[in-house]
Amino acid sequence: MKRQTVAVIVGTRPEAVKMAPVIQALAKSKILRPITVSTSQHQQMTHQILGSFGLKVDHDLRVMRKGQTLWDLSGRVVTKLGRYFAANPVAAVLVQGDTTSAFFGGLCAFYHKIPVGHIEAGLRTHEMYSPFPEEMNRTLLGAVATWHFPPTQDAVKRLRAENIAAETIYLTGNTVVDALRWMVPRCSDAPLRKLIGTAAMKKKLILVTCHRRESLGKPMAAVAGATATVARENADTVVLFPVHPNPAVRQTVMPLLENIPNVVLCEPLDYGQFLSCLKHAYLVLSDSGGVQEEATALGKPVLVLRESTERQEGVKAGALKLVGTDAKLIVRESNRLLRGSAAYQRMCRASNVFGDGRSAARIVKILERALTE
Ligand code: UD1
Ligand code: UDP
Repeated sequence: MKRQTVAVIVGTRPEAVKMAPVIQALAKSKILRPITVSTSQHQQMTHQILGSFGLKVDHDLRVMRKGQTLWDLSGRVVTKLGRYFAANPVAAVLVQGDTTSAFFGGLCAFYHKIPVGHIEAGLRTHEMYSPFPEEMNRTLLGAVATWHFPPTQDAVKRLRAENIAAETIYLTGNTVVDALRWMVPRCSDAPLRKLIGTAAMKKKLILVTCHRRESLGKPMAAVAGATATVARENADTVVLFPVHPNPAVRQTVMPLLENIPNVVLCEPLDYGQFLSCLKHAYLVLSDSGGVQEEATALGKPVLVLRESTERQEGVKAGALKLVGTDAKLIVRESNRLLRGSAAYQRMCRASNVFGDGRSAARIVKILERALTE
């Protein structure tokens, strides 16, 4: 029997991480086969991350421009994906999360009457501009998708509250845990040692990431300033900050953190390298969605540099604490946790709230059934 083609859309770093296990699982199916279509909204990082899993892009739309605006980016994604689907009919399209590539990928598939599976469905803050534009992207995908794959029971409930039919919702867990479980046994401390130096391996590692559009400008400057203060006040720490390639992030972050002896700024790391740093980290400061989930799975305390989070499960599990972008609060909370208090120990418990590592296999099984009925 000829295997039916499922187009897996990736565009950005987190989509590459969370789609990698799905591509691997589809490749093992006897009924379906994956075709990986990258919008390359993130030209370098998408290829970098898929490469970490030994995967390649089958079709590259090359939409990225330096400092792209949302509207220009959206236009290029729709035009190029629209042409791609017209020339390459597929049985189904999978999109992940809440990026421009995910939303317009889903919409474009709808224009071609191709059914859409939405992985990581049902995340909400219920604040239209936080995160921006992701909250709107994922809400609209709820209307476009044929199959919804929420990671948690809370996400299922939110989809039901939006009147999405129960029989189209499948609780699968988050594929990020599959990705993490696949990569952890394959990564070592060597890349981290190379980045910070052997002597610093004995120090407390503070891992920092920051990229959100709604934090660009003053809030991000406050985060960078707070990070500098924490580094200066705690000589027994080393801060490692892989800086997102967005020029707006770099312009703000680099001048405030360069030339501090115990701060290491570096290029984005491949997935294995990043996980080796996360495993070694004492404390994480981040506004990343994926990092909140991975840190929860590994039992690493995160101060979340955002005003709201759609990953409340991680807050309830104890690993995440919302601090926003107020410099004084970030410094106070970091210093408190660096003292290794009971509060710190409570944040170090690993939790499987986001998944059990078998989400991709579940998604593929559901698609096999749906596409052969
Ligand atoms: C995008 C997603 C966001 C996700 C984030 C993950 C949207 C609207 N935003 O935000 O949801 O959390 O990715 O990182 O979809 N750049 C490079 N090389 C790369 C990647 C980016 O140079 O490999 C630079 C380019 O100048 C680009 C800029 O970063 O214009 C911003 O990229 P963009 O995808 O527009 O926004 P992000 O803030 O990365
Ligand atoms: N990540 C990585 N290298 C880095 C920084 C992050 O591989 O230098 C991974 C991280 O483990 C997580 C994902 O990238 O899986 C998160 O991406 P990002 O923070 O860019 O996006 P978000 O999850 O906030 O949408």
